Amino acid sequence: ADNGLARTPPMGWSSWNQFGEHIDEQLLVQTMDAMVANGLRDAGYVYINLDDGWQRHKGERRQQPLEADPVKFPHGMRWLADYAHQRGFKLGIYSGPGQTTCAGFTGSEGHEQEDAKLFASWGVDHLKYDSCCSHKDTPRDALQPIVRRMSQALRATGRPIVYHACHCGWADIWEWGAQAGANHWRIGQDISDDFDYPGNREKYYFDVLDMLDRGIALGKHTGPGHWNDFDMLVVGLNGRSRELVGAGASNVEYRTHFSLWALAASPLLIGADVRTLDPYALETLSNREVIALNQDPLGAPAEKVRDDGPLQVYAKPLADGRVAVALLNRGSATAEITVSPGRDLGEPWKRYRVRDLWRHADLGEVDIPYTAEVISHEARVLLLTPVPGSTAAPLPDSTTH
Ligand code: GLA
Repeated sequence: ADNGLARTPPMGWSSWNQFGEHIDEQLLVQTMDAMVANGLRDAGYVYINLDDGWQRHKGERRQQPLEADPVKFPHGMRWLADYAHQRGFKLGIYSGPGQTTCAGFTGSEGHEQEDAKLFASWGVDHLKYDSCCSHKDTPRDALQPIVRRMSQALRATGRPIVYHACHCGWADIWEWGAQAGANHWRIGQDISDDFDYPGNREKYYFDVLDMLDRGIALGKHTGPGHWNDFDMLVVGLNGRSRELVGAGASNVEYRTHFSLWALAASPLLIGADVRTLDPYALETLSNREVIALNQDPLGAPAEKVRDDGPLQVYAKPLADGRVAVALLNRGSATAEITVSPGRDLGEPWKRYRVRDLWRHADLGEVDIPYTAEVISHEARVLLLTPVPGSTAAPLPDSTTH
């Protein structure tokens, strides 16, 4: 999008994954207060995004103007936006281009300008504009002007509003979303609270590994201002979502999920109840070294640079010439994974300073190929700083990137 916004992937919290449409002012206030107290705001999570269910009306057609539900939000949206802004947050809201949204609430079809002005008058900073249900089968050529219409309406308000065009990964939206004015778009259907449960796919949902595979393959479409969105985080849901399917994942799996979303340069939107996060989940979401990879100004996504069946290496180049790698073990037993120069890193250096970003430990200077032990479903995240001049002869299996 050319609105100058979201130069790094948006970070924040979204109501959907844990609460579905069961949202209200008290929840939002408590969420913000908790995120100030537990440090998540200061770690960078500033977008507080209401998803579907904030609206007053349901019904097949729009009979009245869009309005906040006065029972759920007794002080109204302007008050909530002020509450957010006074505490260093930004407020996000949700609508869609149909007569109704996915959960059956009033949509914005035919009222794009009116609704954009309303959002701006409230002080809204982010809009998720969801066409997953109303336009599931709309061909790409017909969908583009629909997505663009709201981006233009937002622009016309003069207020900077980050624009998420949510289309559940259909109509190849990554190919044209930026031109239609979107700052991010989903690369797949809704995430499930599972690390690896292929059975979900027939039931519409993508587990963490499905989403990863899909999104990594689309990396060339992501960058500053226009991001592939791997969907909201499931870290900390622990199978307790009111909305999502899934049995939950282990601590290690949630940490792997977070690491990979960070390296893929996906928006990082927490989906759990931050008032009751377990300490492990909080520590996962608060890892500033991993967050810094996600927020790196170059905005390059990780590429899969090694794919030995269940043993994989992902590499994300950083603005300062360093490289972040994730060594992912998708298998069921502990394994050794090797990073090579040239072939894996696209660089000729032989020596790197290595830092482990989950152990928060400098491992010293190592020669590449470097081999590390990775437990089942873990992703070791290493920050590699090249030692210039340590040129290695290219390995026989080197390829250029
Ligand atoms: C769709 C989206 C979800 C959520 C719901 C709300 O399913 O993909 O992320 O916004 O609609 O109804």
